[in-house]
Amino acid sequence: MPAAPARPPAPHPRRSRLVPLIAFVSPKGGVGKTTIAANVAALLAARGHEVLSLDLDPQNALRVHLGMPVRDEAGFLAEIGSGTAWRAAVRHTPYGVDLLPHGEVEPRRALELARLVMDRPEVLAEPVREMLADPHRLLIVDSPPGPSPALSAIMPLIDLSVVVLLPDGGSASLIPQIADGRFLGRGTLALRAAERALLVLNQVDLESPLSTAVLDCAQAVMGARLVGVVARDSGVAEALADRRLPVEIPGSRAAEDLSLLTEGILGRLTLPPAMSAGGHSVLTHWGLRR
Ligand SMILES: Nc1ncnc2c1ncn2[C@@H]1O[C@H](COP(=O)(O)OP(=O)(O)O)[C@@H](O)[C@H]1O
Ligand SMILES: [Mg+2]
Repeated sequence: MPAAPARPPAPHPRRSRLVPLIAFVSPKGGVGKTTIAANVAALLAARGHEVLSLDLDPQNALRVHLGMPVRDEAGFLAEIGSGTAWRAAVRHTPYGVDLLPHGEVEPRRALELARLVMDRPEVLAEPVREMLADPHRLLIVDSPPGPSPALSAIMPLIDLSVVVLLPDGGSASLIPQIADGRFLGRGTLALRAAERALLVLNQVDLESPLSTAVLDCAQAVMGARLVGVVARDSGVAEALADRRLPVEIPGSRAAEDLSLLTEGILGRLTLPPAMSAGGHSVLTHWGLRR
């Protein structure tokens, strides 16, 4: 009897996979991507979700926000292409969030890594697909500012891009590009990713006419895709200096906003029943509310 013809490999079941990938991105640096990614990851873990966070920024700062010792310089992206399994780079943080730090790299090595990922995006896309194969995990990605080979490599896998901007004049001019997806690049993939892009305005000060003008603009252009607004709060930088997260600090103005943002993000995801548990309020967990 002739052997049955080999089946072609099944296409990657993108739509049917359960694990959402949420990427914090921005055309700009210094806008609060890492701060917000760390706090949202910790709040999701506090709600009972299994969270894996992945730092794609050579600044390697996510680990600091998540309370890891700075002497541990190892990381996932720094080792990419070397054949090391990504699981070996996972760190368990005090916030219950698993972390794949970027790893410390010299500027020259950062450029080499960018070139490697640009030439062979699969070296990053393949392990990220493996991370997404675990049905109970949420994947949170922190990214470098602007376009990057690493972000391009995982673009087709992103379920939600959360774009972070400050309420300043420069950012206001970028909001239309966020709404129509131009900032994510050209082509159908970028357009598709743009449809799933949400906006967060960080460091908003309602006493400042510029802040409120940019907030009005964001609400008008983005509508319901403005998923959160985080107050400017000097406690945010102070918390980092104390190696704590702002959401741990009772009474912090930013903490309440970060909690609402987390709930807004969760509300945009279709989670399987096993992941929609965690009935208690994140604010209760952090002692911010009765
Ligand atoms: N809501 C906020 N209020 C005050 N300072 C903030 C706030 N969010 C972030 N910061 C500060 O802004 C700076 C940049 O934040 P960071 O998260 O490193 O930005 P990015 O990752 O976009 O470069 C840090 O010093 C951080 O403490
Ligand atoms: Mg950052």
